[in-house]
Amino acid sequence: MDKKIAEEMIGLAIGQLSYSYTPYSGFKVGASLLTKNGKLYTGCNIENASYTPTNCAERTAFFKAVSEGEREFQAICIVGGKDGVLTEYAAPCGVCRQVMMEFCDPDTFQIILATSKEQYEVFTLKELLPLGFGPHNLS
Ligand code: THU
Repeated sequence: MDKKIAEEMIGLAIGQLSYSYTPYSGFKVGASLLTKNGKLYTGCNIENASYTPTNCAERTAFFKAVSEGEREFQAICIVGGKDGVLTEYAAPCGVCRQVMMEFCDPDTFQIILATSKEQYEVFTLKELLPLGFGPHNLS
């Protein structure tokens, strides 16, 4: 993962924290998603009074991108914390990992977890979702 791109993605993800809609948990998450052709999409979490319709930041970014015709992705950056304070990495929930599995190659898709532009770590989808079930299982 190129350092400049990682820093740009972290900046975009942090910028999403101000749009995060979290009247129930107060836990704000921002994401930025990089397509294989270099385009960036962003997302934030959006909560709901009925709780279960809540959408995670990662899925917001994926669904925005897929709804605009994107199907191939290189990397996602995720930041998050209570009241938008970034004290530790906000790892993607299981549902979001499964959505990544639908569109991304687990061996190469990069997941950047960050608390700042200076502090981040990069994981592959396979590291965070070993033995994942995906489209290949149904072919
Ligand atoms: N959340 C995300 O946006 N992404 C994740 O991967 C984990 C959880 C959000 C959902 C909810 O608005 C809040 O964090 C607390 O669960």
